Amino acid sequence: MERVLVVNGPNLNLLGRREPEVYGASTLEEIEAALTSRAEELGVAVSFFQSNHEGAIVDALQGAAGDAEAVVLNAGALTHYSLAVRDAIASLPVPVVEVHMSNVFARESFRSVSVISPVCAGTISGLGVDSYLLGLSAAVRLSRGSL
Ligand code: DQA
Repeated sequence: MERVLVVNGPNLNLLGRREPEVYGASTLEEIEAALTSRAEELGVAVSFFQSNHEGAIVDALQGAAGDAEAVVLNAGALTHYSLAVRDAIASLPVPVVEVHMSNVFARESFRSVSVISPVCAGTISGLGVDSYLLGLSAAVRLSRGSL
């Protein structure tokens, strides 16, 4: 059974309470529950990691090398400046799908820059909880070589 790791970066533990007009009302726990249900439908195992610390995100990504066949990553603000996260993704032998709840291209100009997109398999942005669900489907198809 394929294993998919879902990684969330800084401030995403506050989903549901943080700027709900931007990020919606769903909590991270609710999103993880929805992903667990979708993973069962897809026949894959899913695990979750969230941290507000850049180094912990790098460690989690490095750990995916032996523990997952694909990764879904919402790096939060690290998306826009973390070369350490970018290098961790580039080092991985498994595909990483970049996801964002909000449409980063419709917001402040600094959010239009992603230093991780060039080393990710693809990006899904602006579809709320569905960004994660679609990201999981894409990660599974990538791991199976069917996308
Ligand atoms: C985000 C977008 C980022 O710009 C922001 O810093 C976040 C969340 C999103 O899911 O829309 O923390 O990644």
